[in-house]
Amino acid sequence: MRRPILAANWKMQKTIAEAETFAAAFLPLVAKADAVDIVLAPPATALHALGQALAGSNVALASQNVNPNEKGAFTGELSPDMIADVGCRYAIVGHSERRTLYGESSEFVADKAAAVLGRDIRPIICVGESDDEREAGQTFAVIGEQLQVSLAKIPKDRAADIVVAYEPIWAIGTGKTATPEMAQEVHAMIRERLRVMFAADGDAIRVQYGGSVKPDNVAELMAQADIDGALVGGASLEAESFSQIVNFDGGRA
Ligand code: 13P
Repeated sequence: MRRPILAANWKMQKTIAEAETFAAAFLPLVAKADAVDIVLAPPATALHALGQALAGSNVALASQNVNPNEKGAFTGELSPDMIADVGCRYAIVGHSERRTLYGESSEFVADKAAAVLGRDIRPIICVGESDDEREAGQTFAVIGEQLQVSLAKIPKDRAADIVVAYEPIWAIGTGKTATPEMAQEVHAMIRERLRVMFAADGDAIRVQYGGSVKPDNVAELMAQADIDGALVGGASLEAESFSQIVNFDGGRA
């Protein structure tokens, strides 16, 4: 049985004070959620303060991005050591916004995922097809290729420490959620690929769905056999709404 993982990706939103206000409101609302993993990914400027606010709680800190190099002339970047230093336990890598807006390749994503694992940070590796790719019937081919390359440098014995996030680009921030059946179809295909890549260890990898997840659709998504969690943008910005997502099964998780 895979432990559900509910993660918030705040993207370029929230100041330090706003992140602290969120934490103060959110932590009591999820204090009893001991059967799920809960993750918050604030912007880099709020990582340190939010990490301190979450210390000793059941909520883990994540970076939204990372550079795979140890140190050096990489203006504007953060190394695996640096995000470990502020207390990150997870790092989102290969989000579609970074792939499309900043030209990140699956090869680069593979380097990031391997680099953070080396620092005992769990990568949340994102994959997802565009609207055009889905219309052209290429969804499985696109996701298959992204998985093959982005996960190529994960050591077999570390498979259980990675998380995959399936985020169809057409569902991100659009209010258009994939139906649970559409999401499950792709998650089942991802699960098959993970078994091919990692044999039995592939079964331990959690696969999150992302794209317009809300309090009112999370339960039916989580009820699907191969959906093990959610990566949430817009609906994670308010403590009340993200706490409802974390407590998706009414606290029985
Ligand atoms: P929304 O939940 O706002 O659609 O964003 C999804 C996402 O990109 C999370 O990484």
